[in-house]
Amino acid sequence: MATIHLEELRKVFGVGGTDHVAVDGISLEIPDGSFTTIVGPSGCGKTTTLRTIAGFEQPTEGRVGIGGVDMTGVPADRRDTGMVFQDFALFPHMTVGENVAYGLTVGGDWDEARAQERVAEMLELVDIRAPEEIEMTLDELVLTEDQEGEINKIVKAIEHREYLAQIGLREIGKLLFVGPPGTGKTSTARALAHDLDLPFVEVKLSMITSQYLGETAKNVEKVFEVAKRLSPCILFMDEFDFVAKTRASDEHAAIKRAVNTLLKSIDDISLIQDDVLLIGATNHPDQLDAAAWRRFDEIVNFPKPDRGMRADILRVITRAMEIEEFDPDAIAELTEGLTGSDLRMVLREAVLDALTEERTTLTQQDLEDAVTDFEERDTLKNMDMIEGDHDALVAGGDIGGSGSSGGGHDHSHDH
Ligand SMILES: Nc1ncnc2c1ncn2[C@@H]1O[C@H](COP(=O)(O)OP(=O)(O)OP(=O)(O)O)[C@@H](O)[C@H]1O
Ligand SMILES: [Mg+2]
Repeated sequence: MATIHLEELRKVFGVGGTDHVAVDGISLEIPDGSFTTIVGPSGCGKTTTLRTIAGFEQPTEGRVGIGGVDMTGVPADRRDTGMVFQDFALFPHMTVGENVAYGLTVGGDWDEARAQERVAEMLELVDIRAPEEIEMTLDELVLTEDQEGEINKIVKAIEHREYLAQIGLREIGKLLFVGPPGTGKTSTARALAHDLDLPFVEVKLSMITSQYLGETAKNVEKVFEVAKRLSPCILFMDEFDFVAKTRASDEHAAIKRAVNTLLKSIDDISLIQDDVLLIGATNHPDQLDAAAWRRFDEIVNFPKPDRGMRADILRVITRAMEIEEFDPDAIAELTEGLTGSDLRMVLREAVLDALTEERTTLTQQDLEDAVTDFEERDTLKNMDMIEGDHDALVAGGDIGGSGSSGGGHDHSHDH
């Protein structure tokens, strides 16, 4: 199956913005007899590209070729033979037959409003990104040996998918990322999509169920359908603990049904057969029940970084910055308990503080000050605003004060 990434096309032709601009200067060659997927964010010109191929639009320059034949030279009324267009982002829950039937009305009474509505519904459920839209790369993440091992295994499994199918090994390609907030779970999943050049489908489980009570189970099905149609791709399900929480609690029957649908859909999807790599993530592994755990064939732990990792993370995130007398090991020493995300925040504060003094070169001292500020902020966050810490609540009070009950070294956040 061929995949055309519209973002790539846009880069090549220097176009952007509206659909119509995307058609100008388009140059596209589609292999004869292929199933071709056009991938890109909302509004990047997927539909317009289809319409161009179908002859409803004419590129002002450039060409669209299919199997070596320049379609711009073929009269519009001669183009229909053997072509099936499915704008699946519009009709994700329809059968192929329904899609074709609806697609045939495109030239006539095209219901633009309804189409837009469908796109909006879809986009509320999932966030789809083309790999080249993802800025994170694995190279920018500091991983534990264990994490690297798991990632290598998955890369190999994808590479040798056919062999695995041949020997009947199917229980592969469902990973669960477990760890506290800010330890790089989402970043790693995205970086994987970028580095493996796979579209990234992200869904927050709480989103699926919060808004459409009656339709929750159907929404879950839609998500998996989108992933299958976009395959090969990565399907990232954040907040996986939501599943277990829902099963355990006294929830609405519609939500329970949706969770059962989810578990069944997970069983039915496969890296080997469907080309979909499933990654779940959770901050609360303790809340997952056996039914949720056993769906995943690999559990990848995302611990808070140790001193060595913190120093490496600092090196990575400061790559493009100028810092005098930079000593990442010393900062790592000061930042016990901080996550990668916390360290990023520390750096951001240091940069902004230096900017208030019109400086773009930082010093080691700036970083140390930013760490102290971060600790104070953290203390504030953990503080009981009603009962204690009175000093700190009065302007000029001592936030980091010795008597504070905030526990300045407990950096556990709960998002
Ligand atoms: N090990 C790491 N190496 C480099 N950067 C990291 C690392 N861990 C976290 N970060 C940075 O911290 C930020 C937050 O990370 P991310 O969103 O991936 O965390 P998360 O584990 O998904 O958190 P949450 O559980 O809250 O969703 C990102 O900008 C990421 O680049
Ligand atoms: Mg995350």
